[in-house]
Amino acid sequence: MRTALIAITEELQRLKAAGVSSVAVSEEGLQRLRAHAQVRRAIADGTTGSLPSATGLRSEPVAAPAKSPTVAPGALPLPAAPRIVLPAGDKAARWQALRAIVLNDAVCQAHVRLGKQVVFGVGNIDASIMFIGEAPGAEEEVQGEPFVGPAGQLLTKMIQGMGLKRSEVYIGNIMNWRPELPGGDGFGQVGNRPPTEAEMGYCLPYLRAQIELVNPVLLVALGKTAAEGLLGFRSFKTLGEVRGRWHEFAGRPLMVTYHPSYILREPTNRKKRMIWEDLLLVMERAGLPVTDKQRGFFQEK
Ligand code: URA
Repeated sequence: MRTALIAITEELQRLKAAGVSSVAVSEEGLQRLRAHAQVRRAIADGTTGSLPSATGLRSEPVAAPAKSPTVAPGALPLPAAPRIVLPAGDKAARWQALRAIVLNDAVCQAHVRLGKQVVFGVGNIDASIMFIGEAPGAEEEVQGEPFVGPAGQLLTKMIQGMGLKRSEVYIGNIMNWRPELPGGDGFGQVGNRPPTEAEMGYCLPYLRAQIELVNPVLLVALGKTAAEGLLGFRSFKTLGEVRGRWHEFAGRPLMVTYHPSYILREPTNRKKRMIWEDLLLVMERAGLPVTDKQRGFFQEK
């Protein structure tokens, strides 16, 4: 109920600032708030399986683990990961069905504020290369698309440096909602936090399903959190231990590299070259042509 109350309060404050002194509430609006509160209650009670599906398609709740993983401050307790049941059909139809399941997942929806969105993967469903990030940020949850904020714009440039268009690759995230920091005055978002193991575990089946459907030649994990999601939570200490090397996930080669936001924080040629060297390995393995000019990007003179 807290989320709904916060959303109502924000909206009432906005209206008041705009000079509105009274509001009428529709029956539909009341119903949406009641439904939202019902979902949060069900998560807290561990009874999300009883919630109605908005799609008619299913992600089936699995029995909760005997020992619940720790819950981070600001995170809701979570049921076990969903088991996905896709309808028969061609690849595009199955992808659309998976997208509908994720966007309508009651647990995912309960984690986004009113007016913000659950975020599903985007791009070419026949892509050879799938980039995997951590979780949506502020811009992504507004636009409902991964990597559209500043880090996303840099990722798009990196993809173009590889001689590809953004629309030729597939881009997904470990998480489908924005993990929020608790705090502030309780009325505003104060920032992102890394997802917990439980949150990543809940969303991972949705990423696996996208990998199986798209069937890319290889995967690229962007940053430590994405790498932990794929290689195992706390399975390494520093990204330096695992980046620039081939690993395996879901039966596919997995390259681990830095998150574009790492470059945004300190845009030196040395850092750009480190990511670029990892991407040169990706281009070679994906069978993309590599020109001499591309090989020399970001090399110190
Ligand atoms: N960072 C990520 O890891 N994913 C996004 O979608 C945006 C920023």
